[in-house]
Amino acid sequence: MTRSAPALPGRARPASSRGVYPAWVMTYTLRGASPAKTRADAVVVGLVQTRNTVEIASGGEEVAAAYGRRLRPLLASLGAKGKPGEATLVPTNGTISSPLLLLVGLGRKVDVDQVAVRRAAGVAARAITNAASVALALPAGSPALVRAATEGFALGGYTFTTYKKKAVDGAVGTVVVLSPDARKAETVAAFEEAQVIASAVATTRDWVNMPPGDLRPPAFADTVRDAAKAASKGGTRITVKVHDEVALAEMGCGGILGVGQGSVAPPRLVELTYSPKGAVAHLALVGKGITFDSGGLTIKPANSMSTMKLDMAGAAAVVQATFAIAALGLPVKVSTFAPMAENMVSGNATRPGDVLTMYGGLTVEVLNTDAEGRLILADALGRAVEKKPDVILDVATLTGHMVLSLGDKVGGVLGSEDIVAAVQAAGEEAGEAHWPMPIPEEMVERIKSSKIADLLQHDWVRWGGGLYAAAFLREFTDDVPWAHLDIAGPAYNSGGASGHLTSGGTGFAVSTLIEYARSLTVSAAR
Ligand code: BES
Ligand code: ZN
Ligand code: MN
Repeated sequence: MTRSAPALPGRARPASSRGVYPAWVMTYTLRGASPAKTRADAVVVGLVQTRNTVEIASGGEEVAAAYGRRLRPLLASLGAKGKPGEATLVPTNGTISSPLLLLVGLGRKVDVDQVAVRRAAGVAARAITNAASVALALPAGSPALVRAATEGFALGGYTFTTYKKKAVDGAVGTVVVLSPDARKAETVAAFEEAQVIASAVATTRDWVNMPPGDLRPPAFADTVRDAAKAASKGGTRITVKVHDEVALAEMGCGGILGVGQGSVAPPRLVELTYSPKGAVAHLALVGKGITFDSGGLTIKPANSMSTMKLDMAGAAAVVQATFAIAALGLPVKVSTFAPMAENMVSGNATRPGDVLTMYGGLTVEVLNTDAEGRLILADALGRAVEKKPDVILDVATLTGHMVLSLGDKVGGVLGSEDIVAAVQAAGEEAGEAHWPMPIPEEMVERIKSSKIADLLQHDWVRWGGGLYAAAFLREFTDDVPWAHLDIAGPAYNSGGASGHLTSGGTGFAVSTLIEYARSLTVSAAR
Protein backbone atom coordinates (compact mmCIF):
# COMPACT_ATOMS: atom_id res chain seq x y z
CA MET A 1 0.00 0.00 0.00
CA THR A 2 1.22 3.43 -0.80
CA ARG A 3 0.36 6.07 1.70
CA SER A 4 1.53 9.57 1.10
CA ALA A 5 2.01 12.24 3.71
CA PRO A 6 -0.97 14.23 4.97
CA ALA A 7 -1.13 17.88 4.02
CA LEU A 8 0.96 19.67 6.61
CA PRO A 9 1.33 23.31 7.49
CA GLY A 10 4.99 22.83 6.60
CA ARG A 11 7.64 25.33 7.41
CA ALA A 12 6.59 28.91 7.38
CA ARG A 13 8.73 31.11 5.22
CA PRO A 14 10.13 33.85 7.43
CA ALA A 15 8.70 37.24 6.52
CA SER A 16 12.13 38.67 5.90
CA SER A 17 13.58 35.68 4.09
CA ARG A 18 15.52 36.30 0.96
CA GLY A 19 17.35 34.28 -1.59
CA VAL A 20 16.28 30.76 -2.44
CA TYR A 21 14.21 28.94 0.12
CA PRO A 22 15.58 25.43 0.77
CA ALA A 23 14.25 22.54 -1.26
CA TRP A 24 13.51 20.87 2.08
CA VAL A 25 10.03 19.81 1.10
CA MET A 26 10.17 16.09 0.67
CA THR A 27 7.41 13.64 -0.01
CA TYR A 28 7.35 10.69 2.35
CA THR A 29 5.73 7.39 1.46
CA LEU A 30 5.36 4.22 3.52
CA ARG A 31 5.61 0.91 1.67
CA GLY A 32 5.98 -2.77 2.30
CA ALA A 33 8.12 -3.38 -0.79
CA SER A 34 11.44 -5.24 -0.94
CA PRO A 35 14.53 -3.04 -0.64
CA ALA A 36 16.27 -5.20 -3.25
CA LYS A 37 13.52 -4.60 -5.81
CA THR A 38 12.65 -1.01 -4.99
CA ARG A 39 13.80 1.41 -7.63
CA ALA A 40 15.21 4.55 -6.03
CA ASP A 41 18.39 6.54 -6.54
CA ALA A 42 19.68 5.09 -3.30
CA VAL A 43 18.66 2.45 -0.78
CA VAL A 44 19.66 2.76 2.87
CA VAL A 45 20.24 -0.32 5.04
CA GLY A 46 21.69 -0.65 8.51
CA LEU A 47 24.81 -2.49 9.61
CA VAL A 48 25.00 -4.01 13.08
CA GLN A 49 27.93 -5.28 15.06
CA THR A 50 27.70 -8.75 16.55
CA ARG A 51 30.33 -10.34 18.77
CA ASN A 52 32.96 -10.75 16.09
CA THR A 53 31.41 -9.73 12.83
CA VAL A 54 29.27 -7.15 11.10
CA GLU A 55 25.98 -7.91 9.37
CA ILE A 56 23.11 -6.19 7.62
CA ALA A 57 20.40 -5.24 10.10
CA SER A 58 16.76 -6.29 9.97
CA GLY A 59 14.91 -4.54 7.17
CA GLY A 60 17.81 -5.19 4.81
CA GLU A 61 17.58 -9.00 4.62
CA GLU A 62 16.71 -9.05 0.93
CA VAL A 63 19.65 -6.81 0.10
CA ALA A 64 21.91 -9.18 2.05
CA ALA A 65 20.41 -12.11 0.15
CA ALA A 66 20.99 -10.41 -3.21
CA TYR A 67 24.69 -10.03 -2.37
CA GLY A 68 24.89 -13.53 -0.93
CA ARG A 69 28.44 -14.71 -0.32
CA ARG A 70 29.88 -11.56 -1.88
CA LEU A 71 28.67 -9.47 1.09
CA ARG A 72 31.29 -10.38 3.68
CA PRO A 73 34.37 -9.65 1.52
CA LEU A 74 32.67 -6.47 0.23
CA LEU A 75 32.13 -5.13 3.76
CA ALA A 76 35.68 -6.11 4.68
CA SER A 77 37.22 -4.29 1.73
CA LEU A 78 35.08 -1.19 2.44
CA GLY A 79 36.17 -1.26 6.06
CA ALA A 80 32.52 -1.01 7.15
CA LYS A 81 32.25 -1.90 10.83
CA GLY A 82 28.66 -0.92 11.68
CA LYS A 83 29.73 1.74 14.18
CA PRO A 84 27.28 4.54 15.06
CA GLY A 85 27.87 7.53 12.79
CA GLU A 86 29.43 5.41 10.03
CA ALA A 87 28.11 5.76 6.46
CA THR A 88 29.44 3.86 3.44
CA LEU A 89 28.17 4.44 -0.09
CA VAL A 90 28.40 1.50 -2.49
CA PRO A 91 27.56 1.35 -6.24
CA THR A 92 25.39 -1.73 -6.69
CA ASN A 93 26.18 -2.52 -10.35
CA GLY A 94 22.81 -4.23 -10.79
CA THR A 95 22.93 -6.45 -7.71
CA ILE A 96 19.76 -4.74 -6.51
CA SER A 97 17.36 -2.55 -8.50
CA SER A 98 18.71 0.73 -7.14
CA PRO A 99 22.10 1.99 -8.31
CA LEU A 100 23.39 3.08 -4.90
CA LEU A 101 23.43 1.35 -1.54
CA LEU A 102 24.12 3.32 1.62
CA LEU A 103 25.24 1.29 4.61
CA VAL A 104 24.75 3.12 7.92
CA GLY A 105 26.11 1.93 11.26
CA LEU A 106 23.58 1.08 13.99
CA GLY A 107 26.11 -0.06 16.60
CA ARG A 108 25.79 -3.27 18.58
CA LYS A 109 23.02 -5.54 17.38
CA VAL A 110 21.66 -6.07 20.90
CA ASP A 111 21.40 -2.31 21.43
CA VAL A 112 19.41 -1.46 18.31
CA ASP A 113 16.45 0.63 19.40
CA GLN A 114 14.59 3.81 18.44
CA VAL A 115 17.52 5.97 19.46
CA ALA A 116 19.97 4.02 17.27
CA VAL A 117 17.59 4.06 14.30
CA ARG A 118 16.85 7.79 14.65
CA ARG A 119 20.57 8.53 14.78
CA ALA A 120 21.42 6.31 11.79
CA ALA A 121 18.59 7.77 9.70
CA GLY A 122 19.93 11.24 10.45
CA VAL A 123 23.42 10.22 9.38
CA ALA A 124 21.96 8.72 6.18
CA ALA A 125 20.17 11.95 5.31
CA ARG A 126 23.47 13.84 5.32
CA ALA A 127 25.47 11.10 3.59
CA ILE A 128 23.15 11.16 0.58
CA THR A 129 23.96 14.33 -1.27
CA ASN A 130 23.03 13.51 -4.80
CA ALA A 131 19.80 11.52 -4.93
CA ALA A 132 16.28 12.67 -5.79
CA SER A 133 14.73 9.52 -4.34
CA VAL A 134 15.75 7.40 -1.38
CA ALA A 135 14.36 4.18 0.08
CA LEU A 136 14.96 3.61 3.79
CA ALA A 137 15.26 -0.05 4.74
CA LEU A 138 16.27 0.35 8.37
CA PRO A 139 14.82 -1.83 11.16
CA ALA A 140 11.08 -1.00 10.99
CA GLY A 141 9.33 -3.88 12.73
CA SER A 142 7.43 -1.64 15.17
CA PRO A 143 5.58 1.69 14.94
CA ALA A 144 8.23 3.27 17.19
CA LEU A 145 11.02 2.23 14.81
CA VAL A 146 9.14 3.56 11.77
CA ARG A 147 8.66 6.82 13.61
CA ALA A 148 12.36 6.97 14.52
CA ALA A 149 13.52 6.33 10.95
CA THR A 150 11.15 8.91 9.46
CA GLU A 151 11.90 11.58 12.07
CA GLY A 152 15.64 10.91 12.02
CA PHE A 153 15.89 11.24 8.25
CA ALA A 154 13.76 14.39 8.09
CA LEU A 155 15.66 16.12 10.90
CA GLY A 156 19.17 14.88 10.11
CA GLY A 157 18.75 16.35 6.63
CA TYR A 158 17.66 19.73 8.02
CA THR A 159 19.46 22.75 6.59
CA PHE A 160 18.94 26.47 7.10
CA THR A 161 19.76 28.15 3.82
CA THR A 162 17.48 31.18 4.00
CA TYR A 163 20.50 33.47 4.11
CA LYS A 164 22.61 31.70 1.49
CA LYS A 165 22.75 33.33 -1.91
CA LYS A 166 22.17 29.93 -3.45
CA ALA A 167 20.35 27.11 -1.68
CA VAL A 168 22.60 24.10 -1.27
CA ASP A 169 21.44 21.73 -3.96
CA GLY A 170 21.07 17.99 -3.87
CA ALA A 171 18.22 17.96 -1.34
CA VAL A 172 16.34 14.68 -1.56
CA GLY A 173 12.88 14.88 -3.17
CA THR A 174 11.09 11.67 -2.25
CA VAL A 175 11.68 9.29 0.62
CA VAL A 176 10.15 5.84 0.76
CA VAL A 177 10.12 4.30 4.22
CA LEU A 178 10.01 0.53 3.94
CA SER A 179 8.36 -1.52 6.67
CA PRO A 180 6.95 -5.07 6.79
CA ASP A 181 4.03 -3.50 8.72
CA ALA A 182 3.25 -0.79 6.16
CA ARG A 183 -0.40 -1.89 6.08
CA LYS A 184 -0.97 -1.82 9.82
CA ALA A 185 -2.95 1.13 11.12
CA GLU A 186 -0.59 1.79 14.06
CA THR A 187 2.41 1.85 11.74
CA VAL A 188 0.71 4.26 9.34
CA ALA A 189 -0.26 6.48 12.29
CA ALA A 190 3.30 6.51 13.67
CA PHE A 191 4.63 7.34 10.20
CA GLU A 192 2.23 10.26 9.78
CA GLU A 193 2.88 11.53 13.30
CA ALA A 194 6.60 11.46 12.69
CA GLN A 195 6.14 13.89 9.82
CA VAL A 196 4.01 16.27 11.89
CA ILE A 197 6.58 16.20 14.69
CA ALA A 198 9.57 16.59 12.34
CA SER A 199 7.89 19.54 10.67
CA ALA A 200 7.27 21.22 14.06
CA VAL A 201 10.86 20.60 15.16
CA ALA A 202 12.25 21.92 11.85
CA THR A 203 10.26 25.15 12.08
CA THR A 204 11.42 25.60 15.67
CA ARG A 205 14.99 25.27 14.38
CA ASP A 206 14.27 27.83 11.64
CA TRP A 207 13.00 30.36 14.14
CA VAL A 208 15.97 29.87 16.46
CA ASN A 209 18.41 30.06 13.56
CA MET A 210 16.99 33.34 12.26
CA PRO A 211 19.38 36.27 12.80
CA PRO A 212 18.16 38.17 15.88
CA GLY A 213 17.93 41.51 14.04
CA ASP A 214 15.39 39.94 11.68
CA LEU A 215 13.29 38.35 14.38
CA ARG A 216 12.71 41.02 17.00
CA PRO A 217 9.57 40.73 19.13
CA PRO A 218 7.12 42.36 16.65
CA ALA A 219 8.41 40.22 13.77
CA PHE A 220 8.43 37.07 15.87
CA ALA A 221 4.85 37.74 17.01
CA ASP A 222 3.74 38.33 13.40
CA THR A 223 5.45 35.12 12.30
CA VAL A 224 3.62 33.16 15.01
CA ARG A 225 0.30 34.81 14.12
CA ASP A 226 0.74 33.97 10.42
CA ALA A 227 1.75 30.40 11.24
CA ALA A 228 -1.25 30.01 13.57
CA LYS A 229 -3.57 31.21 10.81
CA ALA A 230 -1.99 28.81 8.32
CA ALA A 231 -2.23 25.95 10.81
CA SER A 232 -5.87 26.78 11.46
CA LYS A 233 -6.87 25.96 7.91
CA GLY A 234 -8.31 22.54 7.38
CA GLY A 235 -10.21 21.88 10.57
CA THR A 236 -7.74 22.50 13.39
CA ARG A 237 -8.75 25.79 14.93
CA ILE A 238 -6.13 27.71 16.83
CA THR A 239 -7.02 31.15 18.11
CA VAL A 240 -4.23 33.68 18.41
CA LYS A 241 -4.00 36.95 20.30
CA VAL A 242 -1.02 39.30 20.13
CA HIS A 243 -0.72 41.86 22.95
CA ASP A 244 1.43 44.85 21.97
CA GLU A 245 3.24 47.22 24.33
CA VAL A 246 0.15 49.37 24.84
CA ALA A 247 -1.97 46.36 25.77
CA LEU A 248 0.82 45.03 28.01
CA ALA A 249 0.85 48.33 29.91
CA GLU A 250 -2.93 48.19 30.34
CA MET A 251 -2.67 44.61 31.58
CA GLY A 252 0.12 45.45 34.02
CA CYS A 253 2.76 43.14 32.57
CA GLY A 254 5.66 44.95 34.23
CA GLY A 255 8.11 42.10 33.75
CA ILE A 256 7.78 41.92 29.98
CA LEU A 257 7.77 45.72 29.68
CA GLY A 258 10.71 46.15 32.05
CA VAL A 259 12.89 43.73 30.12
CA GLY A 260 11.78 45.09 26.75
CA GLN A 261 12.14 48.81 27.49
CA GLY A 262 15.81 48.99 26.53
CA SER A 263 15.05 48.04 22.93
CA VAL A 264 13.54 50.18 20.17
CA ALA A 265 11.66 47.04 19.13
CA PRO A 266 8.79 46.81 21.65
CA PRO A 267 7.83 43.61 23.47
CA ARG A 268 4.87 41.35 22.77
CA LEU A 269 2.86 38.63 24.45
CA VAL A 270 1.38 36.02 22.12
CA GLU A 271 -1.41 33.81 23.41
CA LEU A 272 -2.66 30.75 21.53
CA THR A 273 -5.59 28.52 22.31
CA TYR A 274 -6.38 25.10 20.91
CA SER A 275 -9.67 23.94 22.35
CA PRO A 276 -10.88 20.68 20.78
CA LYS A 277 -14.32 19.24 21.44
CA GLY A 278 -14.22 16.57 24.11
CA ALA A 279 -10.89 17.65 25.60
CA VAL A 280 -9.92 15.38 28.49
CA ALA A 281 -7.37 17.75 30.04
CA HIS A 282 -6.22 21.36 29.92
CA LEU A 283 -2.50 22.00 29.48
CA ALA A 284 -0.92 25.45 29.69
CA LEU A 285 2.44 26.04 28.00
CA VAL A 286 4.66 29.03 28.66
CA GLY A 287 7.87 29.70 26.66
CA LYS A 288 10.68 32.23 27.09
CA GLY A 289 10.91 34.45 24.01
CA ILE A 290 13.94 36.70 24.46
CA THR A 291 14.76 37.37 20.80
CA PHE A 292 18.24 38.53 21.79
CA ASP A 293 19.88 38.57 25.21
CA SER A 294 22.70 41.09 25.50
CA GLY A 295 22.35 40.90 29.29
CA GLY A 296 21.10 44.48 29.38
CA LEU A 297 23.08 46.86 31.61
CA THR A 298 24.48 43.79 33.40
CA ILE A 299 26.02 43.17 30.01
CA LYS A 300 27.35 39.77 28.93
CA PRO A 301 30.98 39.21 27.93
CA ALA A 302 31.33 39.17 24.12
CA ASN A 303 31.72 35.43 23.82
CA SER A 304 28.67 34.59 25.96
CA MET A 305 26.58 36.97 23.87
CA SER A 306 27.48 35.46 20.51
CA THR A 307 24.79 32.74 20.52
CA MET A 308 22.10 34.69 22.35
CA LYS A 309 19.68 34.63 19.44
CA LEU A 310 18.88 31.19 20.89
CA ASP A 311 17.10 32.78 23.84
CA MET A 312 13.65 32.50 22.24
CA ALA A 313 13.93 28.73 21.81
CA GLY A 314 11.41 28.09 24.61
CA ALA A 315 8.78 30.28 22.97
CA ALA A 316 9.41 28.68 19.58
CA ALA A 317 9.11 25.21 21.12
CA VAL A 318 5.81 25.80 22.94
CA VAL A 319 4.25 27.44 19.87
CA GLN A 320 5.27 24.64 17.53
CA ALA A 321 4.25 21.96 20.02
CA THR A 322 0.82 23.61 20.21
CA PHE A 323 0.47 23.48 16.41
CA ALA A 324 1.56 19.84 16.33
CA ILE A 325 -0.83 18.82 19.14
CA ALA A 326 -3.62 20.47 17.13
CA ALA A 327 -2.51 18.88 13.85
CA LEU A 328 -2.51 15.48 15.53
CA GLY A 329 -5.99 16.21 16.89
CA LEU A 330 -5.09 15.22 20.45
CA PRO A 331 -8.09 15.75 22.76
CA VAL A 332 -6.26 18.16 25.05
CA LYS A 333 -7.03 21.84 25.43
CA VAL A 334 -3.83 23.83 25.15
CA SER A 335 -3.39 27.45 26.29
CA THR A 336 -0.02 28.79 25.21
CA PHE A 337 1.80 31.94 26.30
CA ALA A 338 4.87 33.29 24.55
CA PRO A 339 6.23 36.51 26.10
CA MET A 340 8.67 38.18 23.69
CA ALA A 341 11.21 40.90 24.44
CA GLU A 342 14.67 41.99 23.33
CA ASN A 343 17.05 42.45 26.28
CA MET A 344 19.16 45.42 25.21
CA VAL A 345 21.33 48.21 26.55
CA SER A 346 20.13 51.81 26.19
CA GLY A 347 19.46 55.02 28.04
CA ASN A 348 16.01 53.65 28.74
CA ALA A 349 17.00 50.17 29.90
CA THR A 350 15.96 48.79 33.29
CA ARG A 351 18.68 49.38 35.90
CA PRO A 352 19.90 47.08 38.66
CA GLY A 353 17.97 48.36 41.66
CA ASP A 354 14.75 49.07 39.78
CA VAL A 355 11.50 47.55 41.03
CA LEU A 356 9.00 46.09 38.55
CA THR A 357 5.34 45.31 39.24
CA MET A 358 4.43 42.02 37.67
CA TYR A 359 1.06 40.91 36.26
CA GLY A 360 -1.15 40.34 39.30
CA GLY A 361 0.63 42.94 41.43
CA LEU A 362 3.67 41.28 43.03
CA THR A 363 6.73 43.57 43.01
CA VAL A 364 10.24 42.42 42.10
CA GLU A 365 13.56 44.09 42.83
CA VAL A 366 15.88 43.63 39.86
CA LEU A 367 19.58 43.27 40.73
CA ASN A 368 20.88 41.66 37.55
CA THR A 369 19.36 42.63 34.22
CA ASP A 370 20.82 39.45 32.71
CA ALA A 371 18.40 37.35 34.77
CA GLU A 372 15.63 38.61 32.49
CA GLY A 373 13.93 35.35 31.57
CA ARG A 374 12.22 34.91 34.94
CA LEU A 375 10.79 38.44 34.66
CA ILE A 376 8.97 37.88 31.39
CA LEU A 377 7.93 34.37 32.43
CA ALA A 378 6.41 35.69 35.68
CA ASP A 379 3.85 37.77 33.76
CA ALA A 380 3.08 34.90 31.40
CA LEU A 381 2.69 32.41 34.26
CA GLY A 382 0.30 34.85 35.92
CA ARG A 383 -1.82 34.90 32.74
CA ALA A 384 -1.63 31.09 32.42
CA VAL A 385 -2.86 30.52 35.99
CA GLU A 386 -6.00 32.55 35.27
CA LYS A 387 -7.07 30.01 32.64
CA LYS A 388 -7.29 27.40 35.42
CA PRO A 389 -5.34 24.70 33.57
CA ASP A 390 -4.77 21.24 35.07
CA VAL A 391 -1.05 21.67 34.61
CA ILE A 392 1.49 24.28 33.48
CA LEU A 393 4.77 23.52 31.73
CA ASP A 394 7.20 26.35 31.09
CA VAL A 395 10.13 25.98 28.71
CA ALA A 396 13.07 28.37 28.86
CA THR A 397 16.74 28.79 28.04
CA LEU A 398 16.95 30.15 31.55
CA THR A 399 20.35 29.61 33.16
CA GLY A 400 23.96 28.89 32.30
CA HIS A 401 24.04 26.96 35.59
CA MET A 402 21.97 24.25 33.96
CA VAL A 403 24.45 23.99 31.08
CA LEU A 404 27.32 23.68 33.56
CA SER A 405 25.60 20.88 35.45
CA LEU A 406 23.95 18.88 32.65
CA GLY A 407 25.84 19.77 29.47
CA ASP A 408 24.29 20.51 26.10
CA LYS A 409 22.33 17.30 25.51
CA VAL A 410 20.24 17.10 28.69
CA GLY A 411 17.62 19.54 29.98
CA GLY A 412 16.84 20.21 33.63
CA VAL A 413 13.28 19.76 34.91
CA LEU A 414 12.07 21.18 38.21
CA GLY A 415 8.71 21.60 39.95
CA SER A 416 5.85 19.43 41.19
CA GLU A 417 7.24 15.94 41.71
CA ASP A 418 4.66 14.00 39.69
CA ILE A 419 4.76 16.46 36.78
CA VAL A 420 8.56 16.32 36.73
CA ALA A 421 8.40 12.52 36.57
CA ALA A 422 5.80 12.64 33.78
CA VAL A 423 7.91 15.08 31.74
CA GLN A 424 10.96 12.86 32.16
CA ALA A 425 8.94 9.83 31.00
CA ALA A 426 7.52 11.74 28.00
CA GLY A 427 11.08 12.75 27.10
CA GLU A 428 12.20 9.14 27.12
CA GLU A 429 9.41 8.26 24.71
CA ALA A 430 10.31 11.25 22.53
CA GLY A 431 14.07 10.61 22.52
CA GLU A 432 14.94 13.71 24.62
CA ALA A 433 16.66 13.62 28.02
CA HIS A 434 15.34 15.73 30.92
CA TRP A 435 16.92 15.35 34.35
CA PRO A 436 15.15 16.22 37.62
CA MET A 437 16.73 18.92 39.78
CA PRO A 438 15.52 20.00 43.24
CA ILE A 439 14.17 23.33 44.51
CA PRO A 440 15.76 23.44 47.98
CA GLU A 441 13.76 25.07 50.77
CA GLU A 442 16.46 27.71 51.46
CA MET A 443 15.70 29.25 48.06
CA VAL A 444 12.31 30.49 49.28
CA GLU A 445 13.96 32.52 52.00
CA ARG A 446 16.42 33.97 49.51
CA ILE A 447 13.86 35.06 46.93
CA LYS A 448 11.88 36.75 49.72
CA SER A 449 14.91 38.67 51.03
CA SER A 450 14.38 41.97 49.17
CA LYS A 451 14.34 44.90 51.58
CA ILE A 452 12.04 47.01 49.39
CA ALA A 453 9.96 44.66 47.18
CA ASP A 454 8.01 41.41 47.52
CA LEU A 455 10.58 39.32 45.71
CA LEU A 456 14.28 39.51 44.93
CA GLN A 457 15.06 38.63 41.33
CA HIS A 458 18.69 37.60 41.94
CA ASP A 459 20.99 37.61 44.97
CA TRP A 460 24.44 37.33 43.37
CA VAL A 461 25.13 33.96 44.97
CA ARG A 462 26.62 31.99 42.11
CA TRP A 463 25.86 28.47 43.26
CA GLY A 464 22.62 26.81 42.31
CA GLY A 465 21.38 29.72 40.21
CA GLY A 466 19.16 27.42 38.13
CA LEU A 467 17.38 26.28 41.28
CA TYR A 468 16.90 29.84 42.52
CA ALA A 469 15.34 30.73 39.16
CA ALA A 470 12.87 27.84 39.45
CA ALA A 471 11.97 28.85 43.02
CA PHE A 472 11.31 32.36 41.72
CA LEU A 473 9.03 31.10 38.91
CA ARG A 474 7.12 28.88 41.35
CA GLU A 475 5.93 32.03 43.17
CA PHE A 476 3.82 32.82 40.08
CA THR A 477 2.21 29.40 39.59
CA ASP A 478 -0.42 29.79 42.32
CA ASP A 479 -0.07 26.11 43.28
CA VAL A 480 -1.21 24.83 39.89
CA PRO A 481 0.71 21.57 39.19
CA TRP A 482 3.74 22.80 37.28
CA ALA A 483 7.12 21.90 35.87
CA HIS A 484 9.86 24.15 34.54
CA LEU A 485 12.05 22.87 31.70
CA ASP A 486 15.40 24.67 31.62
CA ILE A 487 16.68 23.94 28.12
CA ALA A 488 19.64 26.39 28.09
CA GLY A 489 22.00 23.55 27.11
CA PRO A 490 20.16 21.33 24.61
CA ALA A 491 18.26 24.11 22.76
CA TYR A 492 21.29 24.92 20.68
CA ASN A 493 24.09 22.87 19.15
CA SER A 494 27.25 24.95 18.80
CA GLY A 495 29.11 21.97 17.35
CA GLY A 496 28.66 19.98 14.15
CA ALA A 497 25.78 17.72 13.13
CA SER A 498 25.43 14.30 14.71
CA GLY A 499 22.57 11.85 14.27
CA HIS A 500 19.27 13.70 13.86
CA LEU A 501 20.79 16.86 15.39
CA THR A 502 22.19 19.56 13.14
CA SER A 503 24.15 22.65 14.12
CA GLY A 504 22.32 25.63 15.55
CA GLY A 505 18.79 25.37 16.90
CA THR A 506 17.80 21.81 17.79
CA GLY A 507 14.06 22.11 18.39
CA PHE A 508 14.60 20.48 21.78
CA ALA A 509 11.44 19.99 23.92
CA VAL A 510 8.93 20.11 21.03
CA SER A 511 8.74 16.37 20.85
CA THR A 512 8.60 15.96 24.64
CA LEU A 513 5.72 18.44 24.92
CA ILE A 514 3.73 16.56 22.28
CA GLU A 515 4.40 13.26 24.04
CA TYR A 516 3.43 14.83 27.37
CA ALA A 517 0.10 16.02 25.90
CA ARG A 518 -0.47 12.51 24.61
CA SER A 519 0.24 11.08 28.06
CA LEU A 520 -2.59 13.24 29.45
CA THR A 521 -5.04 11.54 27.08
CA VAL A 522 -3.83 8.13 28.22
CA SER A 523 -4.09 8.88 31.95
CA ALA A 524 -7.56 10.35 31.38
CA ALA A 525 -8.65 7.13 29.69
CA ARG A 526 -7.68 5.07 32.75
N1 BES B 1 19.78 33.38 28.39
C1 BES B 1 20.60 33.24 29.52
C2 BES B 1 20.88 31.78 29.88
C3 BES B 1 21.72 30.98 28.92
C4 BES B 1 23.07 30.84 29.13
C5 BES B 1 21.13 30.31 27.85
C6 BES B 1 23.83 30.07 28.27
C7 BES B 1 21.90 29.53 27.01
C8 BES B 1 23.24 29.41 27.21
C9 BES B 1 19.94 33.88 30.73
O1 BES B 1 19.13 34.97 30.49
C10 BES B 1 21.03 34.37 31.63
O2 BES B 1 21.72 35.27 31.27
N2 BES B 1 21.14 33.75 32.79
C11 BES B 1 22.09 34.12 33.76
C12 BES B 1 21.39 33.99 35.09
C13 BES B 1 22.13 34.60 36.22
C14 BES B 1 22.31 36.08 36.04
C15 BES B 1 21.38 34.29 37.51
C16 BES B 1 23.29 33.19 33.67
O3 BES B 1 23.14 32.07 33.22
O4 BES B 1 24.38 33.61 34.02
ZN1 ZN C 1 18.28 35.03 28.68
MN1 MN D 1 20.15 36.80 30.42
